[in-house]
Amino acid sequence: MSNNRELLYSMKILSFMMLVICIVVPSLRICVANDSVNVLQSMSDGERLVSKGGNFELGFFSPGSSQKRYVGIWYKNIPTQTVVWVANGANPINDSSGILTLNTTGNLVLTQNGSIVWYTNNSHKQVQNPVVELLDSGNLVIRNDGEPNPEAYLWQSFDYPSHALLPGMKFGRDLRTGLERRYTAWKSPEDPSPGDVYGVLKPYNYPEFYMMKGEKKLLRQGPWNGLYFSGFPDLQNNTIFGINFVSNKDEIYYTFSLVKSSVVTINVINQTGRTYRYVWVEGDQNWRIYISQPKDFCDTYGLCGAYGSCMISQTQVCQCLKGFSPKSPQAWASSDWTQGCVRNNPLSCHGEDKDGFVKFEGFKVPDSTHTWVDESIGLEECRVKCLSNCSCMAYTNSDIRGEGSGCVMWFGDLIDMKQLQTGGQDLYIRMPASELEKDKTEKDGVNLTTFDFSSISYATNHFSENNKLGQGGFGSVYKGILLDGQEIAVKRLSETSRQGLNEFQNEVKLIAKLQHRNLVKLLGCSIQKDEKLLIYELMPNRSLDHFIFVVICLLNMLYMDFSQSNQMCSVLV
Ligand SMILES: *[C@@H]1O[C@H](CO)[C@@H](O)[C@H](O)[C@H]1NC(C)=O
Ligand SMILES: *[C@@H]1O[C@H](CO)[C@@H](O)[C@H](O)[C@H]1NC(C)=O
Ligand SMILES: *[C@@H]1O[C@H](CO)[C@@H](O)[C@H](O)[C@H]1NC(C)=O
Ligand SMILES: *[C@@H]1O[C@H](CO)[C@@H](O)[C@H](O)[C@H]1NC(C)=O
Repeated sequence: MSNNRELLYSMKILSFMMLVICIVVPSLRICVANDSVNVLQSMSDGERLVSKGGNFELGFFSPGSSQKRYVGIWYKNIPTQTVVWVANGANPINDSSGILTLNTTGNLVLTQNGSIVWYTNNSHKQVQNPVVELLDSGNLVIRNDGEPNPEAYLWQSFDYPSHALLPGMKFGRDLRTGLERRYTAWKSPEDPSPGDVYGVLKPYNYPEFYMMKGEKKLLRQGPWNGLYFSGFPDLQNNTIFGINFVSNKDEIYYTFSLVKSSVVTINVINQTGRTYRYVWVEGDQNWRIYISQPKDFCDTYGLCGAYGSCMISQTQVCQCLKGFSPKSPQAWASSDWTQGCVRNNPLSCHGEDKDGFVKFEGFKVPDSTHTWVDESIGLEECRVKCLSNCSCMAYTNSDIRGEGSGCVMWFGDLIDMKQLQTGGQDLYIRMPASELEKDKTEKDGVNLTTFDFSSISYATNHFSENNKLGQGGFGSVYKGILLDGQEIAVKRLSETSRQGLNEFQNEVKLIAKLQHRNLVKLLGCSIQKDEKLLIYELMPNRSLDHFIFVVICLLNMLYMDFSQSNQMCSVLV
């Protein structure tokens, strides 16, 4: 009884003196509900520091059957000791003589018999009464006592992840300080020293997270597109965790948050080259794997080589993109896809026949090492910019939320694309004119006649002023007579018209679908160098005025010039 009273008394003194270590002495089952170690304090093997709410504890441990001692943090209430952070992973202590001390300049120092095993490298000048605190998030922090800003840490373990990511932990890079927060696999479950497999952010123009083995890329998440990491669309709106990606001039990072705060989940990287997201299942008293990456064989980095796309449902998972063929057919046939694919027809870039783009849907966008991003421009400007640079091979919106916004362009060969089974993004890949023509006919199913430019020129008396029916910002409209007697109207796009091949083709498609009795019938088109013509049927039983009217109205509509089309087109309805 008196012993107990003494104990209580000394506990009060401990609290009073702000002696802030929570020492768990298992035999006595006492725990000072205080979660800081102050300057005078140190922790020796066997003692523990518990976070305020009791989620985590810091102490010395030995992984598996290892005899070596490490300082680490683990879940306090999970019976299978699950270490989430380790201090001296590369420098174990071989007996129980380790001592962790907070020194007066605000650094934690782990020593064994006087020699330093591990220490923090906080170099802050303004250190005053530093204290150590283990937060309920699992973050071990050193801060000045009484510091009003709760997040002004002198040092925090979350800046130096071990092999696990916890909710709220930033994974990425602080661009101001250059601090890189990567997470690194343990060499083995018994050896927490850093292996050569790690997860890291590559701060490219379009930043991406990779799993690496040394310098080799193992797996790519795909860049953040506003909704998800391009390669893993099915992780959005999952029931366990929310994904937050932040990219600004100061920092680029990923954190995950809990959908339900009671769920315990952790993301661990493993030396086998996998990451596991575990969820603690209370009923089973066990960790269950919720997600593991790579998800399938197609996640293998660069499996299909340049211009190859991986689709897991195919017997041959790698396919060359349409318009491409295997670089080495023999290698390809024997399932060695790494040499990738080459174009069937060369690009001409600034040559006679202009290149264009073919839209691919449902994609994990290519490796973003050589990219350029402009968040201020949209898809159309992006296309124009990409087209004007011969080494730009693809573009798309950098952010796909809503209608999509921003521009990302890829330079050089496109690698590590995946055709996703659900979700995925649009990607516009540069193609020579010959491939565009094929793509157009395949996609449209609308077979319009392609007229020879000279025959249309002849039919309109070489676009003479006498044949001119009207003029708009888009160019002029001429009447003409084909050799077979068919009366036509020809829309000739002015050379200054900024309309590109793609829009032109879209317009042709659109008009072909808009076959309204009041509207004119599109017979076909003609494309030659910079000349783009649309050929309409001149309706015999309508007055010429009506025709001009309809065509101009239609063109205004197509050009989104509603101010004009509204007045004019009202007559049509
Ligand atoms: C505290 O520890 C750090 C890291 O070992 C060291 O650089 C610093 O000099 C120490 N401060 C004092 C007062 O011993
Ligand atoms: C501690 O270090 C001293 C000086 O280096 C050495 O003499 C002593 O044997 C060491 N003790 C242990 C237990 O390792
Ligand atoms: C990697 O994961 C496997 C399967 O979960 C496990 O057996 C192994 O212990 C893990 N290795 C490491 C280094 O954690
Ligand atoms: C094309 O873009 C690349 C990458 O941004 C740039 O290095 C190169 O100078 C550009 N070429 C032209 C002709 O603008």
